[in-house]
Amino acid sequence: MHNLESILTENRVFPPNPDFAAKARIGSRAAYDALVAEATSDYEGFWARQAREWLTWDQPFQTVLDESKAPHYRWFGDGKLNASVNCIDRHLPAKAKKTAIIAEADDGSVRTISYQQLHDQVAQMANGLKSLGITKGDRVIIYLPMIPEASVAMLACARIGAIHSVVFGGFSAEALRDRINDTGAKLVITADGGMRGGRAVPLKTAVDKAIEHGCPSVERVVMLERLGNDSATIVDGRDVLWSQLTADQPTTCEPVSVESEHPLFLLYTSGSTGKPKGVQHSTGGYLLNAILTNAWVFDLKDDDVYWCTADVGWITGHSYVTYGPLALGVTQVIFEGVPSYPDGGRFWRMVQDHKVSVFYTAPTAIRALMKLGDEVPKQYDLSSLRLLGTVGEPINPEAWMWYHRVIGGERCPIADTWWQTETGAHMIAPLPGAIPTKPGSCTLPLPGIMADIVDDDGAPIGPNQGGNLVIKRPWPSMIRTVWGDDARFQRSYFPETLKGYYLAGDSARRDDDGYFWIMGRIDDVLNVSGHRLGTMEIESALVAHPAVAEAAVVGRPHDIKGEAVVAFVVCKGERPQGADAEAMIKTLRDWVAEQIGPIAKPDEIRFGDNLPKTRSGKIMRRLLRGIAKGELPQGDVSTLENPAILEQLMGQ
Ligand code: WT7
Repeated sequence: MHNLESILTENRVFPPNPDFAAKARIGSRAAYDALVAEATSDYEGFWARQAREWLTWDQPFQTVLDESKAPHYRWFGDGKLNASVNCIDRHLPAKAKKTAIIAEADDGSVRTISYQQLHDQVAQMANGLKSLGITKGDRVIIYLPMIPEASVAMLACARIGAIHSVVFGGFSAEALRDRINDTGAKLVITADGGMRGGRAVPLKTAVDKAIEHGCPSVERVVMLERLGNDSATIVDGRDVLWSQLTADQPTTCEPVSVESEHPLFLLYTSGSTGKPKGVQHSTGGYLLNAILTNAWVFDLKDDDVYWCTADVGWITGHSYVTYGPLALGVTQVIFEGVPSYPDGGRFWRMVQDHKVSVFYTAPTAIRALMKLGDEVPKQYDLSSLRLLGTVGEPINPEAWMWYHRVIGGERCPIADTWWQTETGAHMIAPLPGAIPTKPGSCTLPLPGIMADIVDDDGAPIGPNQGGNLVIKRPWPSMIRTVWGDDARFQRSYFPETLKGYYLAGDSARRDDDGYFWIMGRIDDVLNVSGHRLGTMEIESALVAHPAVAEAAVVGRPHDIKGEAVVAFVVCKGERPQGADAEAMIKTLRDWVAEQIGPIAKPDEIRFGDNLPKTRSGKIMRRLLRGIAKGELPQGDVSTLENPAILEQLMGQ
């Protein structure tokens, strides 16, 4: 990874801010140690206590953890609850007038939604879904901009036991179609479009195209008029406007009480094959860790104004926008736009205007905003901030220090949170009132999370050596399976060699204080601006183009994005050169955007007569990674079938 050098020599330590610690939910190392000790001595008892304290159950559970079908673990299996009740109803009537959501649109206009209004909107939408024949267990695709209606749609599904699958609005029609078909969704909830950086992003046209290309399960499409500019086509008999669907619906809707293990949602993420995995999350266990981590790591309390900048299309938007903060009854900001529009002060102006106290974003945004200089944030009053969070990729110490100094005024603790789509919630992160932080380290596992670093046979590894990051015991918010593919679930996360440990797919090391330092992925997964992309996924997209014979994709360190996508392509026929190469590069970049989405566009494409392969035909990615960095391949190339290809690929 980039900056590995500085990470290896990083030795600054920032003890918890005493003012912060004095008021924190967990305000000392002793309090953290006590929780860890409780979880260690009575694992099930610890989680049962948390589940009773933090969740509102319709039917209390008797069984805590059922391991009989391991690794398909079941938590609180005989308990029943409803996620929307936990996020809304239980705050009423006490918080009826409290602002749940401050929604700032791309153009700067602001709407606020109280907990009562949120309740009413969710109930109306849930009734609307029922009127379309959606019932418990049905899958519903949500393809919306980053606006409060996205959370409303998710909670409306949860209210009736429908399983939502949010697809990020930046994914293309083709990517959307694949996800729709994998879930077998009956319904798609979308908008005519969204606004990002002053530009309209059409969504409904992508839905139409996806369905045109074959989504046999889809019966109906609900469309929110977000742009209201008649840009979208309405298909008679299939499409219904959100406004029409909900207008005459009652503002109450009896919640469907579901079993704790009932799937709350599916969320697709990239793995090491071409096909994204539908990560299946449960209701009770998922919600527990989502709530607990917002309380512990973000220390969220009643008077906080919380802002997580992630889109609901990602897991961060599920656990730290929709479910966690609402279940804790706090006020949060939801932002439709981008950090650079209308200018690079957007985030900081919003922090000032909405008096944000807890702010959570990604290293890629921090690095991009850092580049604009200290003068930009210094124009704004950031004194409302008390805690800063980061997620998605390793944060380099330089960016960490800037965040700490310029944004946090040296007073705000920084919570570097390590977790994954599959883990559902934070796994390794500092409890900011208890744990000293070190720039670039996500510090220590949360109480009840048995994280460790082991070798390929599952044996423990000593301090300061890289190894596989694993979680040794099941935890409530863990992935239950890959939707429709139990075998892939077992193969990917519980390989036989690892003694039943959950394999995260990251390499990491621990320092002498036991602090975790994430080093990067061990599989063919890239992390581009905090977005997870499979190299195989991009390769499959490239080879699907009629001009392409073969492709290999690797990552290259990038200052702002963390990693950039570099593709090595063999074309059918002659190798394109000069203007032909330029034209082909443009064609292929646009093609990948169409197949997956703009986030997957290769930053660089190089053409070869073939690719460096071993005699058995395996592409040597190690060499390609070197070439992508501009380094002439070092080390052993003796197994290479065609060494001359290296120079050709280097020469571009
Ligand atoms: C991968 C998971 C978790 C929500 C956003 C991404 C990387 C995540 C950190 C961190 C270093 C991190 C890992 C992980 N990652 N957080 N704090 N420090 N790396 O979720 O798309 O499922 O990606 O993101 O490589 O495996 P995701």
